[in-house]
Amino acid sequence: MIVTTNDLFRHACGKYALGAYNINNLEQTVGLFRGNLGKSKTNEDPVNPAVSAPFIIQISRGARSYTDKRFLEAMIRTAEEVFPETIFAVHLDHGTEEVCYDCIESGFYSSVMIDASHEPFDKNIETTRRVVDRAHERGVVVEAELGQLGGVEEDVVGSVRLTDAAQAAEFVDRSGCDSLAVAIGTSHGAYKFSASQSLRLDRLAEIQKAVPPNFPLVMHGSSSVPKEWVDRINAAGGAMKNASGVKEAQYLPAAKLGVCKINIDTDGRLVWCATLRECFRDKPEDFDLRTSGKVFMGNYADYIAHKNTMLGSAGQLEAVRKSLAKAGAR
Ligand code: G3H
Ligand code: 13P
Ligand code: ZN
Repeated sequence: MIVTTNDLFRHACGKYALGAYNINNLEQTVGLFRGNLGKSKTNEDPVNPAVSAPFIIQISRGARSYTDKRFLEAMIRTAEEVFPETIFAVHLDHGTEEVCYDCIESGFYSSVMIDASHEPFDKNIETTRRVVDRAHERGVVVEAELGQLGGVEEDVVGSVRLTDAAQAAEFVDRSGCDSLAVAIGTSHGAYKFSASQSLRLDRLAEIQKAVPPNFPLVMHGSSSVPKEWVDRINAAGGAMKNASGVKEAQYLPAAKLGVCKINIDTDGRLVWCATLRECFRDKPEDFDLRTSGKVFMGNYADYIAHKNTMLGSAGQLEAVRKSLAKAGAR
C-alpha cells in the first residue's frame, strides 16, 4: 500500500525513524521489499512480524534517467502486488522544481523533495512554496532542505553549512513544507567524516526546539558505511580507503530528537559491490548474471532488516497498519 511520508511520520515521530532507501534496479527493489517483510531468501518466505517495517522508497533524478523512469513505476507497482503486506511511500529524492512537478502530476509519487538548499534563504523559501502549493493540490507532501551537507549532492558541490535553528523555524512557517532535511554534519557517499565533520546532535536538539512540536526532520547522508562490507569489497579486489559513515547507534538518539526519516543509499551500493565482486572472484567460470543477482537480493534483504532494527522501525508494520486504518488515511 502506498501512503505519504507524513502518514508514516505521524506514527514514528519522536520514537523511531523510517528508513528511506534509494533504488535503481529490479534486484534492489525485490531485496528492499523482502527485507521490509523479513523475507530473507525468497519471495515465498513467511512474513516475519518481528522485523517487518514500513519504509520509504527514494528515487533520485539519476535513478529516473538510468534506464527510463517508467521502469521504476512498473517495478514498484509489481512489487506492491507481489508483496501486498507492505506499507511504503514513494518519494522523489533531491528534486528540482521541474522534476517535482513531473512527479506530482504523475499520480505515482506520494512525496517529493524540492532541493533548493543551494539557493539563498528567501529564494529557497519561494521555490519550496511554489512546489508545496502544487503538491498539496494533488495530495502529495513535500520535503525541503535548509543548510548544506558536505560532499556532493547530485549537481551541487557544497561546502558544509549547518542548518541554523532560528532560520529553520522561519523556513517551515513561510514555505509550508511538510518535513525538513537538516544539515547536522552528515554528508553523502562513503567518505563522511574524513575532515573535521561529525554528527551534531546538539544542533539537532536546537532545531527541534525551534520548529513546531512533532515537525518531521530528515537526515540525509546517513549510511553507516559498515566496515564489514568495505572490508569485503577490498578483500575481493576493491580499493576503498578510509571509508566511514554515521554510527548506527546514533540513529535512535536522532529519532528521539525529531528525525523521522533517515536516508540510506551508499550502504546498498556497498552490499551490491561486495556481492558482485565476491561472486566473480569465487566462481570465475560463471557468467550468469542471475547467480550474483540472487545472492544480492538475499544479502540486501538481510541488510535492510538489520538497518530497520537499528532505526527502530523493525516490528512496527502492523501497528502502522492499525493507526492508518484508524486515521482513515488514503
Ligand atoms: O543523495 C543522493 C543519492 O544518494 C542519490 O544518488 O544521484 O547517484 O542516484 P544518485
Ligand atoms: P548516503 O550517501 O549516506 O547513503 O545518503 C543518501 C541520501 O542522503 C540520499 O538522499
Ligand atoms: Zn540526500
